[in-house]
Amino acid sequence: MRTRRSTRLGFQPPAIGEEEVAAVAETLRSGWLTTGPRAALLEERMAAYLEAEHVVALASGTAALHLALLGLGVGPGDEVITTPITWPATANVIEHCGATPVFCDVCESDLNIDPSLIPALVTERTKAIMPVHLAGQPADLDPILELGLPVVEDAAHAAESRYRGRKIGSISDATCFSLYATKNIAAGEGGLVATNRADVAEAIRSMRLTRRGDGSLYDQVTAGFKANLSDVLAAIALVQLDRLDAHTRIRERQFALYDEGLAGLDGIEPLARDERDTHALHLYVVRIDAERAGATRDEYQRALGEELIGTSIHFLPVHRLTWFRERYPSQPRLPVAERAGDEVLSLPLSPAHSDEDILDAVDAVRRVHARCTG
Ligand SMILES: Cc1ncc(COP(=O)(O)O)c(C=O)c1O
Repeated sequence: MRTRRSTRLGFQPPAIGEEEVAAVAETLRSGWLTTGPRAALLEERMAAYLEAEHVVALASGTAALHLALLGLGVGPGDEVITTPITWPATANVIEHCGATPVFCDVCESDLNIDPSLIPALVTERTKAIMPVHLAGQPADLDPILELGLPVVEDAAHAAESRYRGRKIGSISDATCFSLYATKNIAAGEGGLVATNRADVAEAIRSMRLTRRGDGSLYDQVTAGFKANLSDVLAAIALVQLDRLDAHTRIRERQFALYDEGLAGLDGIEPLARDERDTHALHLYVVRIDAERAGATRDEYQRALGEELIGTSIHFLPVHRLTWFRERYPSQPRLPVAERAGDEVLSLPLSPAHSDEDILDAVDAVRRVHARCTG
């Protein structure tokens, strides 16, 4: 077995190279600091990549989710059904629309929203359903789409994903991506909405900036937001898009190293990946069953930190976070999500890491497991 690292292994550092640096320098020299030709080109290239009719570039994945809901007309008094195993932004934007998030429990296998539980949560106030493609594994969309309600996908982890052969981004009313620093297309900050609906794209475009009039004086036709994407960030995203295939090959290798290296460790299991789908390989999440693995997830995370291995948690169930717990005190328990929230741990994964780095992480997990179960 390898020895402990002497330097800390970051959980998910961005893979930024000289081409991104050059693209930023070129953009700054061009004078386009705000939204301009690079943001427009990113929209065009992402529409082709995502096989979507329209892509609108925005300041963050959170803004993408928020404006997508508003674009579909979600407002006060409405309910939106979503998963608790997500970043809180997914639920926060429902609140920002004045609507109520209704949390649905998740599947044991991949921790995505469990479509069989959704019909019981639908009421006459249900305005949309928001599945999340956790870690890059598409949620099971067909039974969700069959319900006939508007669907907004949170595809922050799913830039490369396909559901049963169909590109995520080409399927539902609106699909939202993030360009945050850790994401597979990392611009630092940024977001995209992909949609085949011209009305939704137009509504989002008109809200992302307070629209100017055509005359010499400015005018306002809607109380817009400030949610546009800077060309400086779009320039980084364009280079990252070019690198996506090369990065996928590295991610595939890293997944294989983990699958092989962690196989057989009692009580440590990766989330399921459905072979019918294309997984975006965004996060390598394991579940740690404290009884069999000899220690809790928190104890594993601490021990790995001492081994200089950075990890993260995706995710703590949103409905159990203080703000949502206090706001909705009679929230029903969601047993699968709540147990998963205690067990999930994401291991280092990034095209910036070498195979040796991943093997260091594998061996650190094996050492901790040996200590805890020995
Ligand atoms: C599942 C999920 N949804 C939404 C977001 C929000 O994206 P952003 O940080 O770009 O606002 C993130 C991550 O950042 C995420 O992981």
